[in-house]
Amino acid sequence: QPRRVIPDQTPQDIPALWKQVEACRRCDLWQGATQGVAGVGPKDAALMIIGEQPGDQEDLAGQPFIGPAGQLLTQALTDAGLSREQVYVTNAVKHFKYEVRGQRRIHRNPTIAEIRACNAWLEQEIAMIKPQLVLCLGGSAARAVNGKPVKISEVRGRPMTRADGLPFFVTSHPAYILRVQRYEDAPKAYQEMVADLKAVADLLA
Ligand code: URA
Repeated sequence: QPRRVIPDQTPQDIPALWKQVEACRRCDLWQGATQGVAGVGPKDAALMIIGEQPGDQEDLAGQPFIGPAGQLLTQALTDAGLSREQVYVTNAVKHFKYEVRGQRRIHRNPTIAEIRACNAWLEQEIAMIKPQLVLCLGGSAARAVNGKPVKISEVRGRPMTRADGLPFFVTSHPAYILRVQRYEDAPKAYQEMVADLKAVADLLA
């Protein structure tokens, strides 16, 4: 089925891609966002990590994963023996989706239609970076990469292959770990994520 939308003009390189993302009107999320948030990392990265969408701080700064979830991700990568500098980090959806509550902008999940609308950009990034392996953080990223919903607890921590041969891997979203830390067995959720990242590191080695 024609899930992947081909951009009007295929961008030649990553800077050209971001110019097109900035001008993107494929869905309405650009209206409330400060800017589209580009991926960051080496152009020849072996590992590409995909989150859901920029958060409040990322939207303002124009950089992915710099807020609390990003700090947890960086720590988990370090604990798994990976360095964030080696990794290309991006999001399934490039604009921040939120609702205003008082003074705060509260994250809202992107819809399937919004994930699909942004898919052309993500696929261009994958095609340009050509990672050995893609790591999806949470359900939205897994859906964007794989085209169908997954249950994290069922698929996490083991290598999978997309129909076009792209190897991918799914683990929890760091924001989920921050959320459960308030209620439950915090060290367990974090250690599960680090174990998944170690499995990724082993595959790359
Ligand atoms: N959460 C994400 O999924 N991506 C970011 O860039 C920040 C928080």
